[in-house]
Amino acid sequence: MTDPDTVAAAIADADEVVVLTGAGLSTASGIPDFRSEGGLWDVFDEEAFTLRRYRAQPERFWSDWLSLHEHFFDSGVAPNPAHDALAQLEQAGHLDALLTQNVDGLHPAAGSESIVHLHGTGTRATCPDCGASMPVEAARERVESGEGAPTCDCGGVYKPDTVLFGEQLPPAAMQEARRRAETADVFLAAGSSLTVDPAGLLPDTALRNGATLVVVNLDRTKYAGRADHVAREPVEEFLPAVAARVVELADG
Ligand code: APR
Ligand code: ZN
Repeated sequence: MTDPDTVAAAIADADEVVVLTGAGLSTASGIPDFRSEGGLWDVFDEEAFTLRRYRAQPERFWSDWLSLHEHFFDSGVAPNPAHDALAQLEQAGHLDALLTQNVDGLHPAAGSESIVHLHGTGTRATCPDCGASMPVEAARERVESGEGAPTCDCGGVYKPDTVLFGEQLPPAAMQEARRRAETADVFLAAGSSLTVDPAGLLPDTALRNGATLVVVNLDRTKYAGRADHVAREPVEEFLPAVAARVVELADG
């Protein structure tokens, strides 16, 4: 097991630092993750959120998606110290890219800027036929007023901007993420089970290109035996300690 000072020293020495985050970043903000005990996949069926179901049963898809969506976007949700620590590292010049699987908007809300959204975002919906876009709240109103599935004037059915199971990740985002993993000196995976590909393959890409791999996650991940540093600690405690130490080292 590693400690914040060891990870901070690796980050302080690195030219290129890349972080990959998952739902574990946001549990301290009150958003359940997906695969922990009592996670969202214990409450909802993953099969409800496939691209195929959106196409075959748009009304039922939208009803389920809006229920899931409430967990991410109810008004009380705000960034926690883990999000703040990553924004602080970026502002201090020690984080070059933040690759996130999360769609909850908490990284931008915390002030992070160099974000690559691997699984899209959860705040808007887009018509696949003409590209018209609307805020999810407007889509929610239309569904709740009985429209079933929000339909565009052109006839297309709006789809949330969140990547669905069976849907290709945005090519530009995946290309950028791969490039970042290939050039990272330190690759830190935080709050992710690393079980969903292609995001779950990025640590492997980083390792194969000579990066130091750090994994901070409560549960064990498939990289436990290959990572250079592993911390089975809460990210909302571990990451702020790392960020504070990096700033201390930088101040000399
Ligand atoms: N501190 C550290 N680790 C945590 C914390 C915490 N406070 N809370 C949860 N975790 C860990 C859990 O141990 C778990 O291994 O975060 C991990 C979250 O894993 P998942 O629930 O699988 O979430 P994630 O890896 O982001 O899932 C990837 O799967 O369902 C799809 O599209 C969805 O983006 C998601 C993708
Ligand atoms: Zn349209």
